[in-house]
Amino acid sequence: MKIVVIGGTGLIGSKLVKKLQEHGHEAVAASPDSGVNSITGEGLADALKGASVVVDVTNSPSWEDAAVLKFFETSTRNLLSSEAAAGAGHHVALSVVGTERLLESGFFRAKLAQENLIKASSIPYSIVRATQFFEFVKQIADFSTAGNQVRLPPALFQPMAADDVASAIARIATNSPVNGIVEIGGPEQFRLDELARRDLAARQDPREVISDPHAGYYGIQVSERTLVPNDDARLGETRFGDWLSHATKQVLKGHLQPA
Ligand SMILES: NC(=O)c1ccc[n+]([C@@H]2O[C@H](COP(=O)([O-])OP(=O)(O)OC[C@H]3O[C@@H](n4cnc5c(N)ncnc54)[C@H](OP(=O)(O)O)[C@@H]3O)[C@@H](O)[C@H]2O)c1
Repeated sequence: MKIVVIGGTGLIGSKLVKKLQEHGHEAVAASPDSGVNSITGEGLADALKGASVVVDVTNSPSWEDAAVLKFFETSTRNLLSSEAAAGAGHHVALSVVGTERLLESGFFRAKLAQENLIKASSIPYSIVRATQFFEFVKQIADFSTAGNQVRLPPALFQPMAADDVASAIARIATNSPVNGIVEIGGPEQFRLDELARRDLAARQDPREVISDPHAGYYGIQVSERTLVPNDDARLGETRFGDWLSHATKQVLKGHLQPA
């Protein structure tokens, strides 16, 4: 099966392309570097020739409110019309658990606009809503840092490994479209403040994490269950502790830049 992964050079896209190829599919990594641009439309018609499935794991280079909305709306419209012209039978897109509860943020308004365009199109689809990736816990802490202190709320949090996100998308992309939303998440629930404390401690990062119910997640007010998936979510296997010890060993060995 020919599967085109738009954003195939990104964190999730590169893992997804590898997994699909390992399962014998013709997986094509498409991104501006390979001459495929979902904003200008450049290279899309050629890349999509003969494709059965198109997976959209792009992300916007800017998260500023107007820019991110323009990115996801333009990119999604271009992809859907090129897919219709090419006769692709399944559009898969990666979105975020709790998107409709996070609309205080322009980023999530843009993700909801992306989802709505997909639902309104004639192409059969599967929207995969994932929880936050383990790889982004430190970035969440960085956003909430002032001086040597990180203020985060004790909201429930069920993140997952990027590798498990890619495996779940590979399974969904190679099955029939669900014409709806599938939620995916990690195997364990934590508190956001507690997990950031654990992540920073393992990296020997001296910042202090303060539990503050009024602090936001990327500046957005969240309540107890804003960030966690429904009970029917499909869960990844990788546990945070195992991922963290592997990730910090790699950093100490110099194989990786600190995330
Ligand atoms: N962060 C989280 O915790 C989280 C949780 C759930 C869902 N998500 C969603 O996951 C998705 C993917 O995230 P990621 O971290 O894998 O993203 P990423 O590493 O930033 O990769 C983004 C990809 O999009 C490509 N891209 C950018 N502009 C493009 C354009 N005009 N045309 C074609 N491709 C373009 C990039 O290509 P270049 O490499 O050439 O720039 C890159 O391959 C996002 O939509 C995000 O909302 C994230």
